[in-house]
Amino acid sequence: MKNITVIGSGTMGNGIAHCFAQNQFNVLLVDLSKDQLKKAITTINKNLDRQVAKEVISTQQKEETLDRIQTSTVLENSLKEADLIIEAVSENITVKADLFKKMDALTPAHCILASNTSSISITKLGSFTKRPEKVIGMHFMNPVPIMRLIEVIQGFKTDNDTLSQILTVSKALDKTPLLSQDYPGFVANRILLPMINEAIEALFQGVAGVSEIDQIMKLGMGHPMGPLQLADFIGLDVCLSILNVLDEGFSNLKYAPCPLLVNMVQAGNLGVKSGVGFYDYRVDLKKPTVASQFLSHGD
Ligand code: NAI
Repeated sequence: MKNITVIGSGTMGNGIAHCFAQNQFNVLLVDLSKDQLKKAITTINKNLDRQVAKEVISTQQKEETLDRIQTSTVLENSLKEADLIIEAVSENITVKADLFKKMDALTPAHCILASNTSSISITKLGSFTKRPEKVIGMHFMNPVPIMRLIEVIQGFKTDNDTLSQILTVSKALDKTPLLSQDYPGFVANRILLPMINEAIEALFQGVAGVSEIDQIMKLGMGHPMGPLQLADFIGLDVCLSILNVLDEGFSNLKYAPCPLLVNMVQAGNLGVKSGVGFYDYRVDLKKPTVASQFLSHGD
């Protein structure tokens, strides 16, 4: 496997492209938006600079990594040479279904179609193609260059050859692949999202403020980041989509998204990517303040 195409260059796509390129793969990064691609390359550049400053890589390795990444907005011209595609577009089944049909039609027969989906069924994505045995979940964690885990999801028809190639490629990225079967939320989000939703519910019911909830989970449970801030980093729209999949998939009220989360997504307060979520990131991304709607006595 040499030629990797990453489709979607948002929060996750740029990190995935970065990791593949840093580990000697040729990467084509595709997005509908030219501006988003520019932003992605700027982010990759900054993250590589950070690695150079920490002496994880040399300046030459940084330049070589950047040289291995090409960008494109035209899907049709981009897929003929691909050995592996990682789909990292928005968490929306209609968008992904359309893309899987196109990828199936435009790529060579040996090409594996992987999705970075947080929760959508891999079996369902496979059903939009004529090669469900080559469709697999490759769920990277955010921020991709730092987090070691790849949750690998085997769909109902994913064959063992595809699985073994993905385990090998994951290790070539210096990541740890761990296997999950294809059920709603897989493992990571089936456990994480109910916790985030409960934190939002506690805020909604006035049990405590944003800072208190996050600090209690940080200081009390040793979590590196509170659940509300983590939701901001994931993107509140992504959190809502995952909860909807869990809610629908299990028909169990415990997964129903908190109305406050629904309201915030409808208002466009999506967290870090929109500038405001539970915190306000517009002045200083590294030192966010509690968003004005949620200010309480302690803030
Ligand atoms: P995002 O909203 O930051 O980026 C999505 C990108 O896809 C945008 O740049 C958009 O222009 C592009 N796009 C949409 N439709 C497209 C198409 N048809 N062709 C090409 N590009 C297209 O989303 P994010 O957060 O990067 O999520 C991507 C995927 O990764 C989702 O499936 C999400 O569930 C999953 N994921 C997200 C995590 C997170 O922390 N945000 C963590 C792990 C997985």
